[in-house]
Amino acid sequence: MTVSRRLFFALWPDDALRARLAAEAERLAPHCGGYPLPAENMHITLAFLGSVDASRLEALVDLTRAWPALNGEWTLDRLDHFPNPRIVWAGSQAPSPSLLTLHAELWRALSQHGFTAPQRDFTPHVSLVRQADRAAPQSRLPTPLRWRFDHLVLVESQLGDSGSRYRTLADNVG
Ligand code: 2AM
Repeated sequence: MTVSRRLFFALWPDDALRARLAAEAERLAPHCGGYPLPAENMHITLAFLGSVDASRLEALVDLTRAWPALNGEWTLDRLDHFPNPRIVWAGSQAPSPSLLTLHAELWRALSQHGFTAPQRDFTPHVSLVRQADRAAPQSRLPTPLRWRFDHLVLVESQLGDSGSRYRTLADNVG
């Protein structure tokens, strides 16, 4: 029997930024319907791999650990809504060059491991509220949040009764 793991590459904010994002999610949820995501789940996905055969995990862990140090930043100042899959999210008004470069370089490396980047454009976002029926009442975060990112993580998503649980499998700083 083959075992598969649901994997993705992400940036994880520090505790303080996650708390700020979770507070924003709590504030927005009553306006948007749906439920706020907890602080521990706040992240941006750079590359979603989906269900991956467990035999490929070691190569992905190696790739993550060998990834060069990061020194990038982006500013979260925008609120928006994906009507399907009903997510209210935070992102940026202006693209972040360091984030877009990292995204492109990561997919270039992943393509050498047989993974294919999605066709659709990359919309950098942090999901705040799920099952959100309505957009947020504003299109801007009341206070812009600057996020300096310095590490890349390979994460496993486990779907449970009470939402997704995420487990870090590797990073490029340890
Ligand atoms: P979301 O927050 O926009 O749903 C774990 O599920 C992470 O992978 C989440 O950040 C989720 O983004 C993202 N994700 C799930 N399915 C995806 C897909 N088909 N394409 C891109 N990202 C996906």
